[in-house]
Amino acid sequence: MKKSLSAILLIPGFLFFCLLFVSVKTSAQDVSKTSAPLPDSVNVIVTASCTPCHTSQGGLMSRTKLNFTEWINYSPEKQKEKAEKMYSELNKGAMPPKKAREAKPELIPTSEQVAIIKRWAESFPSDIK
Ligand code: HEC
Repeated sequence: MKKSLSAILLIPGFLFFCLLFVSVKTSAQDVSKTSAPLPDSVNVIVTASCTPCHTSQGGLMSRTKLNFTEWINYSPEKQKEKAEKMYSELNKGAMPPKKAREAKPELIPTSEQVAIIKRWAESFPSDIK
């Protein structure tokens, strides 16, 4: 009698635990794999330094490679890839392009701004390829 009672309690308890675990796990995945808008700290930098070229109104070459007007429609994978490229271009001093840097030095992000882009680029979950 005692044995069967504890089985009656244990089985639903176990199932409930499994359910909880599965739902927590899938909701965590949903969050990490959702395309997100640019965080404000990044948006400020992009708006000042990158949107002259990298929006739907920008040049064909630049907007084909990176278009902030379309950012929210990029897949999480593409967002992560582009964020990493943004940092690597900035770290090399390759963006904005040389001609633009010379003509409009005010477009060049400061080292603090590059550090913000770096932290953001590194913050994408590692399960996104
Ligand atoms: C004066 C126009 C101009 C500005 C301003 C500019 N870019 Fe670009 N960018 C380009 C052009 C043109 C290309 C494509 C040719 C190339 O890759 O060199 C490009 C390419 C890139 C790429 C390569 C994308 C890929 O997938 O290969 C990245 C990343 C990038 N830009 C980031 C930035 C960031 C970040 C900023 C702002 C800090 C910025 N750019 C500002 C013109 C610009």
